Amino acid sequence: MMTSVLTRGFMKRQAFSRCISTTTAGGKPNYAFAFDIDGVLIKGKRLIPEATRALKMLNGDNSANRNIPFVLLTNGGGVTEEEKARQISEIVGVKIDAKQVILSHSPMQKLASKYRDKRVLIVGGKGRQCYDVAKKYGFGEAVTPHDIMHWNSSSWPLAKPSSDLSVLTSAAQEFSTLPIHAVMVFHDTYDWGRDLQIMLDALCSKDGILGSRKGDYSTQDVPLYWSNVSTLFLYTCSCFNSNLFIERSSPRLGQGAFKIALDSLYKKLTDHELHSTSFGKPHGATYRYAEDVLGRLGARDQGRVYAVGDNPAADIQGANNYGWTSVLVRTGVFAGDNSKEFPAAMVCDHVEEAVEKIIFDEEKRK
Ligand code: G3P
Ligand code: MG
Repeated sequence: MMTSVLTRGFMKRQAFSRCISTTTAGGKPNYAFAFDIDGVLIKGKRLIPEATRALKMLNGDNSANRNIPFVLLTNGGGVTEEEKARQISEIVGVKIDAKQVILSHSPMQKLASKYRDKRVLIVGGKGRQCYDVAKKYGFGEAVTPHDIMHWNSSSWPLAKPSSDLSVLTSAAQEFSTLPIHAVMVFHDTYDWGRDLQIMLDALCSKDGILGSRKGDYSTQDVPLYWSNVSTLFLYTCSCFNSNLFIERSSPRLGQGAFKIALDSLYKKLTDHELHSTSFGKPHGATYRYAEDVLGRLGARDQGRVYAVGDNPAADIQGANNYGWTSVLVRTGVFAGDNSKEFPAAMVCDHVEEAVEKIIFDEEKRK
């Protein structure tokens, strides 16, 4: 398994090196970067200090005095790309454009042409933030579990519909006659019980009509999409302890854990597997999307992409599988020499060291 991943990545990189020269063509750099955010540039809400210098180097403060294209490629989400760009610019002190930000759900905007006028249930996130993201992507008929609770509060009798009416997507929605055409999880859910129940209601329904039940589960009427299937994420918080602020990080259940719960409940209730499509790292669809974005930012076709990340299972596995050059840093979830399961092509203490070494090596090829 380990060998095959590495071999695939190596062969793809070899294919790249066969078709590129070590100089630029038409002024476009022949290399680019994709940075993970949490554990590489920031930790929780705190800056990883080396990140500022690393991004400044890419913005022209380097020996070649030129800009090198880069994107931020994160499994985080729940806000718009504009909002994430604003947050990261503020923390890191380097201006990031929204066009450089790829969130877990960003590649899902490609689905908007299929579902533009169809009702889609958007799950996860705070309040109606993911609904706002979905509308921005072009899902014109997006709805949320809040809307369903307001339509029928007994959908999940163990909680009350939110008293904050601003979370609703529009005036009263009707779900007993108008179908849900797809379910899309954009972010971690803030109410597992309610959302498990409502998603099962939709996925077990006949043609997406809530309140109905399929007789035969050998086919699935309502497609399901996930933006990120990491079982755990590293939650970092500052706590006040013995008159000191200390930082604590602990692995917490993520969207992938919710997927395990939903899959197993669906299997228990229907005796069939629940089928779904996943986005986010390490899935190929996310890398294909990122490659298009890098192209629009000026990266040269089939140039080398260095993917800098802290999570072997997401960042390194994804980069290796896609044929990018993986770089593992020790400022996040990983500590040690290299990952045994998903070895990176290069391991550095922090992002500044990685960027400095790569620019040095790339620029001396000329
Ligand atoms: O999985 C959620 C998030 O914390 C991961 O972020 O930037 O490390 O992909 P990132
Ligand atoms: Mg990370």
